[in-house]
Order: sequence, then C-alpha cells, then structure tokens
Amino acid sequence: MDHSNYVIDQMISAKSIAARVEELAEEISAKYADTDKLVVVGLLRGSFVFISDLVRELDLPVEVDFLETSSYGNSTESSREVRILKDLRGEIEGRDVLVVEDIVDTGHTLNHVLHMLESRQPKRLDVCALLDKPSRREVDISASWTGFEIPDEFVVGYGIDYAQRNRNLPYIGKVRFIES
Ligand code: IMP
Ligand code: MG
Repeated sequence: MDHSNYVIDQMISAKSIAARVEELAEEISAKYADTDKLVVVGLLRGSFVFISDLVRELDLPVEVDFLETSSYGNSTESSREVRILKDLRGEIEGRDVLVVEDIVDTGHTLNHVLHMLESRQPKRLDVCALLDKPSRREVDISASWTGFEIPDEFVVGYGIDYAQRNRNLPYIGKVRFIES
C-alpha cells in the first residue's frame, strides 16, 4: 500500500521510448561499426531497463558492464558529492566504451564518471543518456546521444525511481506532489 502523497502523470509512453531506443541503437551501431567489441557501461541502478533494451537493438559485438555511483538517496535534491559504490569488472584500456545513463541533470555524476573512466585510457568514450534536463545543468557536459530532452520535472519509470519506487513502470512519468 502506497501512502505517499503524489501522483504520476505519463510524460513519455512506452511506445515512444521503444521507437527512440531503436533510432539511438541504429546511430550507435553505425558509429561503432568497426569495433572489436563495444563495452557498454550501465550506471546503476537507473539505467538498467534502458541498457537492456538498448543492447538488444545494437547490431554489434558488445560486452556489458556496470558501475554504481552514490545517488540522491531518498531526496529529489542532488548532494553534488559523487562516490563510486561499485566499480567495473572489466578493463577498458584501449577499448571502445559507451556509458549508458538514465538522466543527465546537473551533470555532476557524468562529469565525475567520465573523468574517472578517461584516466583508464579507453580508445573512445561516449555517452548515451535516455533523458536530459538541460535547464538544470551546473557542469558543462553533454551526452553524444540523448533520447529525450525534458523540462525541469522529477520523473520516474523505465528504471528511474523516486525513493526506490516506480522503477517498474513501462513509461516515463512526471511526479506531481499533492497537498494533503
Ligand atoms: P546529476 O549528477 O545531477 O546529473 O544527476 C544525475 C542522476 O540523478 C541521475 O542519474 C538520476 O539517478 C538522478 N536524477 C536526476 N533527475 C532525476 C529525476 O527526475 N528522477 C529520478 N532521478 C533523477
Ligand atoms: Mg543515475
């Protein structure tokens, strides 16, 4: 039973997401057509649905790895402090690496992750983000591929949570808090 006082309004349908994922996968497959084996790095936990759909549309040899950074906890505000909670299992030196992120918000998470991965000297390092909130950016950073640009709203679904809930929604919804 959910006693929290908010409702979720659909923002991006499951069908729209699927269509966009297909487009992104086509562009990524074309760009990496000559790779030996692309290392697709999912940032846990928010990207787990996106990465699973994306890799199944890639027409490339891929390796899948995961990295977990500290999150906002149960708040909607960024702590700005990013820590690595779980590192990659594999080596990325000299490899083609694609980081898959759920949302680029202030940009602090991605900035930190990219600096850390860059120091391991991959051959190529790109980012594919499902969502982008450009109006919230505090660090000058952008993904090579973005699924959808969205306004400054708190969203859930398709892997993305609010206080560890709603990751299992098949669509992206906007959280609307209601007075009680
Ligand atoms: P950044 O470091 O501010 O760019 O934050 C990025 C991370 O914050 C994302 O990977 C999400 O995990 C989380 N985040 C940002 N916006 C939202 C949101 O609207 N809903 C849920 N999580 C969010
Ligand atoms: Mg995240």
